[in-house]
Amino acid sequence: MILSGGPASAFAEGARRAPPEIFDMGKPLLGICYGMQTMVAQLGGAVAQAARGEYGRARIESCADSELLGARSVAREVWMSHADRVTELPPGFKALAASDNAPFAAVADEARGFFGLQFHPEVTQTEGGSEVLSNFVHGVCGCAREWTPANIVARALDEIREQTRGEGVILGLSGGVDSSVAAALLQRAIGAQLTCIFVDTGLLRMNEGDLVMQTFAEHLGVRVRRVDAADEFFARLKGVTEPERKRKIIGNLFIEIFEREAARVEDAKWLAQGTIYPDVIESAGDSGGGSGQATLIKSHHNVGGLPQRMRLKLLEPLRDLFKDEVRAVGRELGLPESLIARHPFPGPGLAVRILGEVRREFAGVLRRADAIFMEELQNHKMHSHVSQAFAVFLPVKSVGVTGDKRAYEHVIALRAVETTDFMTADWARLPHALLASASARICNEVPGVSRVVYDISAKPPATIEWE
Ligand code: XMP
Repeated sequence: MILSGGPASAFAEGARRAPPEIFDMGKPLLGICYGMQTMVAQLGGAVAQAARGEYGRARIESCADSELLGARSVAREVWMSHADRVTELPPGFKALAASDNAPFAAVADEARGFFGLQFHPEVTQTEGGSEVLSNFVHGVCGCAREWTPANIVARALDEIREQTRGEGVILGLSGGVDSSVAAALLQRAIGAQLTCIFVDTGLLRMNEGDLVMQTFAEHLGVRVRRVDAADEFFARLKGVTEPERKRKIIGNLFIEIFEREAARVEDAKWLAQGTIYPDVIESAGDSGGGSGQATLIKSHHNVGGLPQRMRLKLLEPLRDLFKDEVRAVGRELGLPESLIARHPFPGPGLAVRILGEVRREFAGVLRRADAIFMEELQNHKMHSHVSQAFAVFLPVKSVGVTGDKRAYEHVIALRAVETTDFMTADWARLPHALLASASARICNEVPGVSRVVYDISAKPPATIEWE
């Protein structure tokens, strides 16, 4: 069992506790951050507020050999995010590693198989973090390695056939990796029962609509209906600047259009969605199926009230998967690399990358700038080395010179991040030559832009998207 982290304080009133019986089951336990603090507090140790919190990178050094962290005296860079810390260990526990600010950065009662980590092994920034998790799961717990793409696909095909039992399924295809992989999976499982609806919101990336139609309708033989709804989206977004309102408007209009189109599909009983695990967690405060405990960060429009309203049953074949696993499944299903390797794209599309009011002309400028940035990433062979990259349109004007003339035009920000889980991310250290050519080309080739900046914020505290 793994007790995860969380935003609460382990000694606050009403703080959540692990069910006490898990400590008597004779099974291995791994507590991470809050999970370790509550384990320590429940087993007779002490947790207190640290003089200063520890957020971001830290260096830890192991002070004992262990199955979890390996040999003693090994230093590694880890990601910390905590205000409280363990000050006293429960009986039977010892320290495995320390950082400057946390003398108990890793602890264990090895006889009982209980381990605690103050740092986060699950985030990209922790060096060898997945090895630590693997040491726990495969080493300490002795679990087999069965979570492979082939097994995931085989299980999903069975589950989809079992669940739908010959009934019709509708899927909203967005052009993104998730809904594309969901479509390919459903096509393989129950192709004859599937109808996809592709709503072109006018907020898609360059040539995205055509690529979707080519891949799915032409190559895979999927039944796809394409709806051109750009006018409706721009009309509804006119004058709206607040990010959450923009998201809600887009989500609602998308639902409206989708319902309209879906009503024309006869005998549909299921609505399939390309929801993936991070959507579920980050929408925990929404009506989606989250625990209601994680703090709401942004409302994601793909986990919502659509199925109830449409009286459709919900089918979410990717709900348990992280992005890298979704890609592995897509490859297993034989989807083209050009589609699988595409960077993820948010449901509300370019609307969350045009800060403030969304206008058709801004979307046109942004699409061109974004396409140039993608081309330059490809030219410099960096596209597959970053997890997500895109351009953002800033509705501020700055002064420039083009030719001999003074220009007073908009600003484009470039964002590129490295992450595996999209829950945390670091900005990509792109080569200067790439940034230089992207900037020069955008200023020269995209009318309406006089300046390009590069975003150097990590998540947290920033998010990946700007809105
Ligand atoms: P943030 O900005 O929350 O983004 O750090 C994390 C990842 O989620 C994507 N994203 C979305 N995906 N619907 C989606 O399907 C949404 O409303 C949405 N908002 C953000 C974002 O592109 C990044 O990959």
